[in-house]
Amino acid sequence: MRGLASVFRVKGLDRILGEAERQPHRLKRVLGPIDLIVFGIGGIIGAGIFALVGTAAAGDAARLGAGPALMVSFLLTGAACAFAGLCYAEFASLVPISGSAYTYAYATLGEIIAWIIGWDLILEYAVGNVAVAVSWSGYFCEFIRGFGYEFPAWLATDLRTALHTPEILAAAPRVLGVPIVFNFPAVFIVAALTVVLVIGVKESARFTAAMVGVKLLVLGFFVVVGAFWVRPENWHPFAPNGWAGIQAGAAVIFFAYIGFDAVTTVAEETRNPKRDLPIGILGSLAICTVIYIIVAAVLTGMVPWTELNTAEPLSVAMRQVVGADWAAGIVAFGSVVAHTAVLLVFQLGQPRIFFSMSRDGLLPPALARVHPRFRTPHVATLWCGVAVAAGASFASLDEMADLCNIGTLSAFLLVCAGVLVLRYRDPDRPRPFRTPFVPLVPILGILACLYLILGLPATAWLRFALWFAIGLAIYLAYGLRHSRLRGEPPAPA
Ligand code: ALA
Repeated sequence: MRGLASVFRVKGLDRILGEAERQPHRLKRVLGPIDLIVFGIGGIIGAGIFALVGTAAAGDAARLGAGPALMVSFLLTGAACAFAGLCYAEFASLVPISGSAYTYAYATLGEIIAWIIGWDLILEYAVGNVAVAVSWSGYFCEFIRGFGYEFPAWLATDLRTALHTPEILAAAPRVLGVPIVFNFPAVFIVAALTVVLVIGVKESARFTAAMVGVKLLVLGFFVVVGAFWVRPENWHPFAPNGWAGIQAGAAVIFFAYIGFDAVTTVAEETRNPKRDLPIGILGSLAICTVIYIIVAAVLTGMVPWTELNTAEPLSVAMRQVVGADWAAGIVAFGSVVAHTAVLLVFQLGQPRIFFSMSRDGLLPPALARVHPRFRTPHVATLWCGVAVAAGASFASLDEMADLCNIGTLSAFLLVCAGVLVLRYRDPDRPRPFRTPFVPLVPILGILACLYLILGLPATAWLRFALWFAIGLAIYLAYGLRHSRLRGEPPAPA
């Protein structure tokens, strides 16, 4: 009985805040509200709008396409994220600590739920970044193709595609008869960004701001040029696969929204987190929702939805419809930059979640080490770099994006539940930002996340179940025993 109770032990909010204050390894507080909005957009606009939007519109072997009703999918997913974002904002203002949803759950739902969220967040950040790195590689090859250089396919492809493409296997060099196939550009970009992140967050924040400027300009360029080529007949039929297609599309392009919550991972590097975190989360989410709906309208107006199932739909639209290779090149360039910003934000976020989990004893202590000169969590950053680069060397975009989506949706769902629990358990605590219309907004958040999870293919659910089981085994074998709350009775928040 005692063992069962201890997995639900709660780390009280006062204790969390006090510990963070007393930390000898404090991170530098350098970020303001605009930095956070920019950081949010940096994490949001990337592979989702530049690549997965094609799968969402046209569908693939595993799912139906939304067709031109992709605009509705974006609206639905934007609403789901807004509900979750409002809940995130309450927590982020209350617990401005770098562990994000993991820390919120520890304060409210108990250690095992916190661990599950932390484990889900690996799907969001690290597995999500595997998907983004793979997509980065695709657009990078598309970009250099514009200069007449063809990257060897065996050196820039995922394993599944290679195994189904005899020409790639035939061209690959062999070691002891085994063909060598891997995604070199994806590995390279992750390695390069890992070095940037070890050096420091302010430097990377400046770098992110420059990249955000480029991606907004390029999407603006796509919309303005593309608008001249919209043929309204492409919007008919509007929803060729009905609600099922809209739901499946919404579940895929959920990936495009992931990132607004990454703002919370730099809470300990923010000057005034209680005020600025909600601004960063909701501001970046609102800006991106508007941009996405406009891009979806233009894209589906330019190209018949059935022709959109390509990994580089925005570039392809420019080349095939506008007939301008230079315009396709500009979009490919902007896409490479956008992907790079996402990679940077997520590679920054993941180590900070590990940092918090390690500080609590649920992961080995080395992951909480801070570099004496750069004041960054360098050990966790390096490990994340190695793991993501390894995954990106062989994984495929759609599969990784589905897994990332289901993990993130589960984490969002638990955050919404956490707001409800804490309002009930600790109603009087001053909340610098209050989620409006509680319990309605958190309940709608939970239902919306469930709806999107149901829109994902069954393979994603199975993989998620496996991931969950592995995580539980690790918690029972390590975290339960090494937790810093070990031996303490479960306490109310
Ligand atoms: N939202 C991020 C992207 O679309 C993960 O790349």
